[in-house]
Amino acid sequence: MIKVGIIGSGAMGSGIAQVAAFAGHEVHVYDANPIAAQVAAENLKKSLEKLVEKSKCTKEKMTEVLSNIYFQSSIDKLSESGIIIEAIVENIDVKKEVFEALESIVSDDCILATNTSSLSVSSIASACKKSNRFIGIHFFNPAPLMPLVEIIPALQTSEDIINTSISLIKSWNKTTVICKDTPGFIVNRVARSFYGEAIRIYEEGIANIATIDWAMKEIGGFKMGPFELMDFIGHDVNYKVTEIVREQFFFDPRFKPSLTQKRLYEAKRFGRKSGIGFYDYSENAINVEAIKDKDLAEKIFARIISMLINEAIDTLYLKVASRDDIDLAMTKGVNYPKGLLAWADEIGLGTVLENLETLMEVYEEDRYRPSVLLKQMVREKKHFY
Ligand SMILES: NC(=O)c1ccc[n+]([C@@H]2O[C@H](COP(=O)([O-])OP(=O)(O)OC[C@H]3O[C@@H](n4cnc5c(N)ncnc54)[C@H](O)[C@@H]3O)[C@@H](O)[C@H]2O)c1
Repeated sequence: MIKVGIIGSGAMGSGIAQVAAFAGHEVHVYDANPIAAQVAAENLKKSLEKLVEKSKCTKEKMTEVLSNIYFQSSIDKLSESGIIIEAIVENIDVKKEVFEALESIVSDDCILATNTSSLSVSSIASACKKSNRFIGIHFFNPAPLMPLVEIIPALQTSEDIINTSISLIKSWNKTTVICKDTPGFIVNRVARSFYGEAIRIYEEGIANIATIDWAMKEIGGFKMGPFELMDFIGHDVNYKVTEIVREQFFFDPRFKPSLTQKRLYEAKRFGRKSGIGFYDYSENAINVEAIKDKDLAEKIFARIISMLINEAIDTLYLKVASRDDIDLAMTKGVNYPKGLLAWADEIGLGTVLENLETLMEVYEEDRYRPSVLLKQMVREKKHFY
């Protein structure tokens, strides 16, 4: 079994280390900050002990997993790795520097992978001399719990590296989807309108946050409403992803961030982690209540789901990923109750198109433009499944 190297012991690095060690690999983790590595080692032990308490893992397995993970103080100790997954700060220059340094210590057949959420995989690969062994392997947070992993070949990645990476990640008990190196990949691109359109509805005063959250859960069956989810993810992370995705799409208005979220971010009201975001999480806080009006909820749901479906359809149209992978990504990566393309068939493509055309007529904003594929399919009376 190959040795696995992980660079960065933050939320993602330590989660991925746990996943690989669970699958039986010897894992070597390096973090530039020794304190971060120490904290990660302590947290890892605590999280495994919790699993044992909940009977989700035996004591023997916990001991085996812990003995498989080595926190190293020097990057050189990762030299025998068969794969190295980088999960450091989301900064392209720092990532490139790390891969340049890594290439001089690993063997020629070591796969080099990045867990970046929003940077170009091909651009990071360009820092490597042997860039055909470079690939994007994108886990979701928390990595031990979330089943999805997006596999993103760079323009430079060779076919055998893609196949080996997919087999390896599958052997770690994860579901893989493959997607083109485009901003936000599948999940972080398609999910943008779940947040953006919800905030827009709130900004227009159509409904309060609790009502919008209730509508999406009650009518759509989502586990969390958009505002609850944004507060959970953190506005520092969620706002930044929106900004980066929009910039990388050459400022396409479909991905325009909202001032409401920007202000929360600027005020450091990050959500749950800071005690306040859209909702107030302090003790005795009084939050707005949902107005449980079914007709209003149906309208809110129709608007947000049509925007989500439109993005999923455009993702397919532009060959970013396959139909099945797009649906799998949204159900396994963000727990959507149904795949959006299957949902589109259920609602009716004609209805989705009508909803978007009405929004386009009312707002005259390019953000509501229907995908060419949606129009084509309605014309030809086609379905996705
Ligand atoms: N947090 C998420 O929800 C999430 C989900 C998927 C992907 N990602 C991506 O994973 C990566 C890591 O995210 P995170 O949330 O774990 O970050 P984090 O801030 O929790 O951890 C990053 C760690 O990297 C270390 N580090 C920074 N520069 C380093 C260097 N040059 N060499 C070695 N270690 C270095 C830091 O000390 C820190 O411990 C980012 O690229 C992020 O976009 C994050």
